[in-house]
Amino acid sequence: MIPSAMSATPQSRIEIDPAVVTAAGDFVVPEPLGFGRCLAPVVFLADYQDGQWGRGRLLPYGPLGLDPAAKVLHYAQVVFEGLKAYHVGGSRPMLFRPEMNWRRMNRSAARMMMPALPRDLFMDGLLAVTACSEPYIPRASGRSLYLRPALFATQPTLDPAPSTTFTFMVVASPSEALASGPLRVVVERTGARAVAGGTGDVKVSGNYGAALHATAVAAQSGFDQPLWLDAISHRYIEELSVMNFFAVVDGALHTPELNGTILPGVTRDSILALARLEGLRVHERLMDVDELLQMIRSGRCTEAFACGTAIIVGSIGLIGEHDGRLCPLPEPEGPHAGRLRERLLGIQEGREPDPFAWTHTVAPLDTSAPDRNG
Ligand SMILES: Cc1ncc(COP(=O)(O)O)c(C=O)c1O
Repeated sequence: MIPSAMSATPQSRIEIDPAVVTAAGDFVVPEPLGFGRCLAPVVFLADYQDGQWGRGRLLPYGPLGLDPAAKVLHYAQVVFEGLKAYHVGGSRPMLFRPEMNWRRMNRSAARMMMPALPRDLFMDGLLAVTACSEPYIPRASGRSLYLRPALFATQPTLDPAPSTTFTFMVVASPSEALASGPLRVVVERTGARAVAGGTGDVKVSGNYGAALHATAVAAQSGFDQPLWLDAISHRYIEELSVMNFFAVVDGALHTPELNGTILPGVTRDSILALARLEGLRVHERLMDVDELLQMIRSGRCTEAFACGTAIIVGSIGLIGEHDGRLCPLPEPEGPHAGRLRERLLGIQEGREPDPFAWTHTVAPLDTSAPDRNG
């Protein structure tokens, strides 16, 4: 299937500050690039008040005027998303499955007592920031423009009640992949990322702040990431801090089933679809960590990998314990992981056919249009 038709430019709906042209023109992408460190010189903002969304604005990047009492600072009423615009294969930049991010953002917003974002407003933000950033979207395979939509509470009162005013923003970062395999992960047997009834299955900023400590402890012991287990029995694998988890057992793909505490990743869903398309057996199930470690030692589990927008797919080289025991994977470079990564990235970058019509081509933004502020 060919990529979806070029999306209409959002120009008639948004205000574009003419200064974005100068800001974009002066911008230089640094080397080494890294992930999320270099920020694109534009920001998209839209405010919500009196029960409705105002017009989106594309502005030069700069500090926000935030009231010290804004509820986001006190009650963490903030949710976000992460997706990428690729500009490698095709003549235009392409977004990957942005509708899924929109739907997930609105599930996160509902969980946090925040207003839903209209689809057009969400897409306008992504399309305007991507189109304006086009000259500095990296063209090398594996690199992209990482897009970060976020929605946060701005009402300046200290009562612990939901805010009545909010801001939606999109910032972006020309980036490399977050990491490449093989990853070293450590089983987190005491801490918990998420509990049933909590916020583990939505993209709420508090989830990430709460995971920082375990990630720092893992890093002190030489690991890249903690491998989170369920919070009740500390027995079943959930995910990594910003990635979903897969293992290859007896030649089939296994991943923890979505149980209400795991974030439903866009990449996870895409890997499952691609694996099924190539005839691989796929199991979404409860995965007992000790059983899996035993299967690694016996050779039944040959590889494991992590996936997510930031890393794409990264093989896992070993699973360790805080007591020093290490369980290396028989196939640390992960042949299945490598193949699925290539397949997925080929589609994302417009180098390979897109059988599911996942990619969304971004039209140019005409910043000279006379009605840009009208
Ligand atoms: C906790 C968590 N799990 C998994 C993922 C992977 O999700 P996606 O593939 O949509 O990036 C992410 C990244 O958003 C995440 O933060």
